[in-house]
Amino acid sequence: MQAEEFNRRGKEMVDYITRYLNSIRERRVIPDVKPGYMTELLPDAAPTEPEDWENIFNDIERVIMPGVVHWQSPHMHAYFPCLTSWPSMLGDMLANAINCLGFTWASSPACTELEMNVMDWLCKALGLPCFFMHRHPHSRGGGLLQSTVSESTLVALLAARKDKILQLRSELDQDIDDSSVYVKEKSQDAICFSPGQLCATLGTTGVCAFDKLSELGPVCEEEGLWLHVDAAYAGSAYLCPELRWSLQGIEFAQSFVFNSSKWMMVHSDCAAFWVKDKFKLQQTFSVDPVYLRHENSKATTDFMHWQIPLSRRFRSLKLWFVLRSFGLTNLQAHIRHASGMRLLFC
Ligand SMILES: Cc1ncc(COP(=O)(O)O)c(C=O)c1O
Repeated sequence: MQAEEFNRRGKEMVDYITRYLNSIRERRVIPDVKPGYMTELLPDAAPTEPEDWENIFNDIERVIMPGVVHWQSPHMHAYFPCLTSWPSMLGDMLANAINCLGFTWASSPACTELEMNVMDWLCKALGLPCFFMHRHPHSRGGGLLQSTVSESTLVALLAARKDKILQLRSELDQDIDDSSVYVKEKSQDAICFSPGQLCATLGTTGVCAFDKLSELGPVCEEEGLWLHVDAAYAGSAYLCPELRWSLQGIEFAQSFVFNSSKWMMVHSDCAAFWVKDKFKLQQTFSVDPVYLRHENSKATTDFMHWQIPLSRRFRSLKLWFVLRSFGLTNLQAHIRHASGMRLLFC
């Protein structure tokens, strides 16, 4: 396929997507297929010769759609309705066209800088503490987009563990193996596997229950534990000031994450993750491949030091498009409408 055909086929695909989403309520939400249904519909091996796009395109309805659960359907009530939006879709289209890997600032400055700005916007919009912001006097923190909340929570867990190990190592003045922390107490060797982290949830998936940060926070502070807040499910609600009651005690958090892809009309994967002290992430995930060294390299703006994978997609475009196309007023109206209908119990 060359550019001219792509242009034609691309328009057809946009037409197909628009038709699909506009008429989605007419489709059965849960497919009526049995495990292995697709094997009969596909050949045993990949084609040796190129196929016509027409054939490939027609197979969307023949092979794919019969096995799709239509998550965007208004009749989909299981788990969480994946609410997306047209501007978000356009953001992902553009990200795919640019297809940069933003591991460092230099590898695509716009990718890193848009993410930093949008994460600061979002931090303010949710009423989170300014110590999570990139651009705030005295802040040591910042936010970035991870693929999922689970990955962000693992990142926070590993950072907390590393921080604890470094702390113990300096207190005990001895070499401590990173895989287990040995605390010598009297004559006994106690083995401590504790990562030094407590994970609180704001809005559990099952019943949307909230941990009390104002009670857990002081305990974490006293015990020297990293308080990580998982607001995957309900975090978008904080766009509305009147729904921020459960954020009381957020000042004790070392990290916070929520899924903009759940209730903010952004496509997955787009988990917004903030940390109070970015240097604690960097001491955990710092990598220094020769091929990525650059005169403008700075650990603080090279997001490969803030995450598990090396590479990263240009995720902030869809968030930027959504924030600008709707504006905070309409996003708040969207949240208020859903909580008014008790779609979520915030
Ligand atoms: C409270 C909570 N934490 C974590 C997750 C997992 O999110 P992800 O799929 O982004 O890892 C969910 C998903 O539903 C959730 O509701």
